[in-house]
Amino acid sequence: MDRYATKHGEVYCEDLPLRALAQQYGTPLYVYSAGTLADHFQRLDRALAPVAHTICYAVKANSNLAVLRTFAELGAGFDIVSAGELHRVLKAGGDPARIVFAGVGKTAEEIAFALRHNILFFTIESEEELLRINAIAAAHDTVARFCIRVNPDVDAHTHHYITTGKSENKFGLPFTAARALYLAAKNLRHARAVGVQMHIGSQITTTAPFVAAITLLAAFVNELRAAGVALEYVDVGGGMGIIYHDETPPTADEFAAAVVPVLRTLPAHVLFEPGRFMVGNAGVLVTQVQYLKTTASKRFVIVDAGMNDLIRPALYEAYHAILPAVPRAGAAQVVDVVGPICESGDFLGLARALPPLEPGDYLVVRSAGAYGFAMASNYNTRPRAAEVMVQGDQARVVRRRETIDDLLAAELGL
Ligand code: LLP
Repeated sequence: MDRYATKHGEVYCEDLPLRALAQQYGTPLYVYSAGTLADHFQRLDRALAPVAHTICYAVKANSNLAVLRTFAELGAGFDIVSAGELHRVLKAGGDPARIVFAGVGKTAEEIAFALRHNILFFTIESEEELLRINAIAAAHDTVARFCIRVNPDVDAHTHHYITTGKSENKFGLPFTAARALYLAAKNLRHARAVGVQMHIGSQITTTAPFVAAITLLAAFVNELRAAGVALEYVDVGGGMGIIYHDETPPTADEFAAAVVPVLRTLPAHVLFEPGRFMVGNAGVLVTQVQYLKTTASKRFVIVDAGMNDLIRPALYEAYHAILPAVPRAGAAQVVDVVGPICESGDFLGLARALPPLEPGDYLVVRSAGAYGFAMASNYNTRPRAAEVMVQGDQARVVRRRETIDDLLAAELGL
């Protein structure tokens, strides 16, 4: 469920027409619905109520401070993967006691920074990393809490770039290696095992991979307990899929109905790390038509947002629904919606049937709240888009549009 709808012949975000927002703030423009963010968090939180849990929002999906503040106020924890994300969460008012730190390549500086803020735990991905964390914790005269990320070798049936729980992926440790490391880690004086973590992939649209992986994880937790390693936390990662096109992903209630029966058997506090589910359909990218170009084989709609603003179509051949902010009457035509960047991969949508368009019209690229702005770049020296948060009939700029001066400010070559 999201709060975008067509009313009075145009597309609204909550109580504001996207056309008016685009006119006021310019394009390309990311727009987020605060009501949708809260709704998604609360639906999942309520559905998971039968197990003691914390939802740790995956900051990487959308790290705007206003988004983080919204979730912090709702009581969320946070899943971070860098010192930069930790800075953001702290600035947005997130509680360090609910922050978990993942990632295969944490540097010594990042580990020290997280230890100083006493985060809930590190998710470790290798023995070398655990030894490094133990040494840094010793130097800080503290004890680091950690979970080992296990790789359950379950196929999440998603795009191969965002599958993470197969044995050929760089993530986690197989159960046997993880077991040996838990036992060896008992001797570490500055690192204490508090839980186990996994994350099998992203944009997973059925419950079966989750159930399969969580079932394996539960057996592993019980096996460890029998071996004298009692874990307080079980972190099952994120990955819940959303509707971009014609997918039928589980709702929050359906997801909970599938996983709660397994999780309930564990005497542990359960953590979830959803990113996309929380923010994906809460955001859109509004772009303006610049030119209509017809060649012998194609009709192109050239817009002012490119792969630097939203890279998902280029990188994953991802589908994002595209519709005019104010549809014109007339027969639909099949067009490619492309950006201004000098690459043929620079498209937002291919072979889309759209109503007639004119230069100056606005197009709405749906489901852009997750991995949209967060993956934006300055390729082609293009300033990144502004971001606006809508709540009811109020809008506020939560990130101003970058300027060329912003882009050049860090360069020292002249
Ligand atoms: N936890 C861990 C350890 C992760 O690696 C990820 C995502 C998440 C949680 C959140 O996953 P989510 O609930 O959002 O699926 N850029 C790609 C997605 C990359 C996901 C990376 N890890 C995309 O645009 O589809």
